[in-house]
Parts: sequence; structure tokens; C-alpha cells
Amino acid sequence: PVTHAADLVVFGGTGDLSMRKLLPALYHSDRDGRLAPETRVIALSRGGLTDADFRGKVDAEVRDSVPVDDPGVWQRFLGRLHHVSVDVGHGAGTEAGSGWSALATLLAGHEDRDRIFYLASPPRTFGPFCREAHEAGLVTPRSRVVLEKPLGNDLASAQRINDEVGAIFDERQIFRIDHYLGKETVQNLLVLRFANAFLEPIWNSLWIDHVQITAAETVGTPGRRGYYDHAGALRDMVQNHLLQLLTLTAMEPPARNDREAIRDEKVKVLQALRPIAGGEVERFTVRGQYTGAGDLPGYLDEPGSTPTTEMSSRVETFTAIRAEIRNWRWAGVPFYLRTGKRMPYRRSEIVVQFKDVPHAIFPGGTPNRLVLRLQPEEGIELHIMAKEPGAGEVALQPVPMSLSFGETFTARVPEAYERLLTDVLAGNPTLFMRRDEVEAAWRWIDPIQDAWKATAGLPEPYPAGTTGPAGAHELLGRSGRAWHEEEA
Ligand code: BG6
Repeated sequence: PVTHAADLVVFGGTGDLSMRKLLPALYHSDRDGRLAPETRVIALSRGGLTDADFRGKVDAEVRDSVPVDDPGVWQRFLGRLHHVSVDVGHGAGTEAGSGWSALATLLAGHEDRDRIFYLASPPRTFGPFCREAHEAGLVTPRSRVVLEKPLGNDLASAQRINDEVGAIFDERQIFRIDHYLGKETVQNLLVLRFANAFLEPIWNSLWIDHVQITAAETVGTPGRRGYYDHAGALRDMVQNHLLQLLTLTAMEPPARNDREAIRDEKVKVLQALRPIAGGEVERFTVRGQYTGAGDLPGYLDEPGSTPTTEMSSRVETFTAIRAEIRNWRWAGVPFYLRTGKRMPYRRSEIVVQFKDVPHAIFPGGTPNRLVLRLQPEEGIELHIMAKEPGAGEVALQPVPMSLSFGETFTARVPEAYERLLTDVLAGNPTLFMRRDEVEAAWRWIDPIQDAWKATAGLPEPYPAGTTGPAGAHELLGRSGRAWHEEEA
């Protein structure tokens, strides 16, 4: 369906996220006929570009990546683009803040459109942006604001940002993005769990031994040190993406497929996470930092690096955590979370490891395992035991029953941002994080980062291109378990 006519104002509109993800996603929406003819995309930056400059930049940098099959559609898309130079932090009424009046002129007379402020900028700008947009009289009843992660760097800063944004926008107008929620397999997880009868009866501690949630990346952090030195894997990936996957895996069945029912159940999972604090942090968490290996530089030697500081040598580019959910369904089932840069493969997956059969009549069986793969190819695999063909003794072999989305469905799988932008334009916040969710996640993360800060020890080194430091293997190994790929 075509979304309501909108003015989509992107702050940070010429930045990396906008050029790599948002504009391609909007182009695809346009091509598939989901954008109303009047819908405009207004990029804000300090760059001093004209509309024509910005369109030229998008033509040069985005066109080949989408790719364009119909030049007419591409021209129509370019025609929607505008640029206004706006600098935030000076106050809307000042000389330096004069960009606001240029924006006001462009928006004037279009109050009947949905007005979406997409903040693809550092979190410290969220509060000032909203305040100045309000001072400039730009916040209409049909306005919404989209916040990119990270939302703060701890609970206190997240609360401050939420308060600042909440002073201008109602919670129902605030869309906090976690792009993992836009991935097809992630949405499929809810369908798999709640539209099939066979899984739910065994989805608990009676049948499940443990769960592994991995987001492994081959990329390092070239050119991103300025951000990453202050983030690290815990804040960059665990606080948001991995915890979101955990909530969807562990949540109770909601009564309805609606925005509040689903988010209510997710937040309950976060609130049930057993805190890891003080001396336990060392036992239940692992930090690593990659070092140079072969042609691959170490974290501290990535090109474009700022000089090494104590902070950079303490940043974790890998982390593994043993989490527990204290409720009836999950008591005693560890949830192992793991993410790292410069691992040997790019793979994001949720692995549900079932318990062994209660009584084995065949030798050599291994317990069942359900793998939900988000990346690289989205799919679902159930590892079952089967008999090897043959007339001799019964021999067992684990075989995967697999569903590959790419092979089963012919429709193009949309990128996460495409799905999420469509939801923003349609005003549907189900796949966005509510304030209480974000804050509950920080409440669990904070004691871990506090303990890491307090220790003198550095992250464990691991050579670039390997599966992380030895500690990550010990985390599972000490209870006789292993990461999925080590057994496969
Ligand atoms: C981002 C992180 O949120 O997610 C990046 O800031 C990370 O560090 C990226 O590389 C991973 O996203 P995806 O979709 O490639 O798994």
C-alpha cells in the first residue's frame, strides 16, 4: 500500500548511514510504488549543498549500488530529494541557526503531510535537535521522530536523552530503531514460534539445554575508531541487537500481534535477566580485542586510527556473555551471547540447542538443534538424527532439514531499513524499541561495563581472522558445551 504523503527530514542526511542504507531503501520503496507522489526526502547537513548538488551526489554514490533498472523511476526518485544546511546546537533563532528558517520555508504549507524527523546523527544531538525543531515551529501533530542507535552510553545518558526527546514528542511519536528487528528472519522468528503448534510445547527448560546468539563479522573498524573507541562490542551490538534477539527468542506468546502486546512481553524478558555484577562479571563475561595477523591489522593499527590511548587499548572488539533469564520458562537455561569484529566469517544466528533424548536406544545420537540464520543467507535449519542407509547395524547421522528463504520464496528479500522505513511512514512502531525496553537493556548492561571499567586487566587478545579469545571457548567449555560451529 502507498504510504501517506510525507516529508522525511533526515538529519545527518549526507552521512554514511543515509548514503548506504536509507536512500537505497527509500529508492526501493519508491520503485515498488509505496511512496506517495508528494513524498519528499529532505537531507540536513552542515555541508552547504544545493538540491542539485545533493541530487548529483546521490546519483554518483547511490545509483550503482541499488541498482537502477528503470532510469525514469530513478529520475523521479532524485526529484524527491532536497538539501538544507542546518547546524544544531546554536538555537533556532540565532544567526548560526538560520538553516532552521530555510527548512521552515520548505516545509510551510505542508502541515497535512506526515512529517518525519530521522536523526541519523550522534545521540548527543537528539535533545538539541528536537528542541530547536520545536522552537522553529516545525513539530506538527502529524510529526514523528526516529532515533538511531546508540541511545546513550549507559542508563543515565539514555534516560536524559529520552527525557529531552520526550519533552517535545509523545512516546507514540518516537521510533527508536534497531535495524536487526527489520531483518526477515527476525520477524520470522515470531511467525515460527507463534503460528506453528509444534514448537511452543517444547520451547522451555524441560527440552532446551541452552541458546546461543551470535553476530560474527569479518569487518574490522577502519575509519570508525572515533566512534568505536567510545562504544565497544557491548554497547555497539549487545545492548541493542543481541538483546533484541534474546527477547524475541525468550518472550511469552503475546495475546495479540499488536505494538504494545509484543513490546510488553519483550520488556518482561529484559526485566527478568539475572544481573551480572561485581565479581561475577569476570566469570560470566569475556572481552577480546583483535591483534594484527597476516595482512590484517590489529585494532590499534587500523588505517585512519587516532593515536592509541588508554581508552583504545581497553576497548573490546569481541565479547561473549553467559546470560540467564529468571522466570518459569527459562530457569537454568543459559543464553550465550557473542559478537566480534574480524572473525573468520560473517554470520548471525540464533541456535537453540535441545536436550538429549531421555533414554537412548541407539548409540551415537546427538541432541537436536534449531538454527535460525539471519546472515549471510536467511534460513532455518533443524538438525535431526536420521539413520544412515545400509543393511548393517543402525548408524545415526545428524542431518539438517533446511529452509532457505532465498530458494523457497522468489520475492526479493527487502533490506532491514526498507521494512523499518515503511513502518515509520505507516506509523507502525511494533518493530521499534519502547523507552522502557531501552532502559531495561541498559540496566542490565551497566553493571557489566562498570566492572570492566574498574578492572586493571585489558581485553584478551585474539588474532584477526579467528573466532575470538580462548576465554570465549572456556565460557561454554566449562559446562561441557561448545559454540555451534565447533561441533558442526
Ligand atoms: C551496527 C553496528 O549497528 O550493526 C556495526 O554499529 C555493525 O558495528 C552493524 O557492523 C552490523 O549490522 P549487520 O546488519 O551488517 O549485521
